[in-house]
Amino acid sequence: MLKAFAIAAVTALGLSGAAMAAGEGGHIEDVDFSFEGPFGSFDQFQLQRGLQVYTEVCSACHGLRYVPIRTLSDDGGPGLPEDQVRAYATNLLPVFDESIGEERDREITDHFPTVSGMGMGPDLSLMAKARAGFHGPYGLGINQFIRGMGGPEYIHALLTSYTGEDQEQAGTLLHENTAFPGGWISMAAPLSDDQVTFEDGTPATVDQMSMDVAAFLMWTAEPKLMDRKSVGLVAVLFLLVLTVLLYLVNKRLWAPHKGKPLHR
Ligand code: HEC
Repeated sequence: MLKAFAIAAVTALGLSGAAMAAGEGGHIEDVDFSFEGPFGSFDQFQLQRGLQVYTEVCSACHGLRYVPIRTLSDDGGPGLPEDQVRAYATNLLPVFDESIGEERDREITDHFPTVSGMGMGPDLSLMAKARAGFHGPYGLGINQFIRGMGGPEYIHALLTSYTGEDQEQAGTLLHENTAFPGGWISMAAPLSDDQVTFEDGTPATVDQMSMDVAAFLMWTAEPKLMDRKSVGLVAVLFLLVLTVLLYLVNKRLWAPHKGKPLHR
């Protein structure tokens, strides 16, 4: 018993320590994403722009290994027509097919490629849920309660917080970034204005591209966000109706006994 307690205490201390260490990151701007709040939903066109930024820029160094390509045509996601998704899949890196023992074109039933090796970055499938932008004092999470975890905000901030300063450390070039915990990151600033051309005419500023790719990565990390919200809403409505019904039933059952003196 005592041992279990000691382990729990040490773990809790360790966790709060980690939370505090994570809190050493720079200032993260809150962004009003369309998918926030109880009625929020993904903006299909923003997800399409984010996919474009990922494809043309980030995919050189980052995989999305947990994301099935076919979900690009899902409602509530980027919602691309299926023929477009099919064409998109063929343009990705080929996949090694174990059943035929060789490489073949990627199909919509495959996942996005895994990217690894020297100079490559971590997989981004779940990054928007793996990072937190907001931290309460001493990891209490008060900010998070009000503004959310801030994963997409962190990605947006990371991409827009390069100062332009570089330094070499043990043979690695590090770039100063005020959003990255520690302040120096080995990823060079990946975005510059007008790096991509959006078909819908949205100006491709670094800020805009960062927001769009952050929203897209939130979708890859939590593709069922909208379903979850609508189920939650139905549950709350149901509970409200149930509360009213129970109140009325209770009143009715006790009505004959109320307002009368107690019988003995
Ligand atoms: C030239 C290769 C390259 C490109 C292009 C690139 N990255 Fe990175 N990225 C990296 C490397 C390397 C790291 C690991 C950095 C580190 O830990 O110091 C990284 C790390 C990250 C991280 C994790 C930061 C953290 O908190 O650990 C995110 C998020 C990220 N990149 C997003 C993106 C996005 C979004 C794009 C496209 C707009 C992009 N990257 C383009 C190489 C790249």
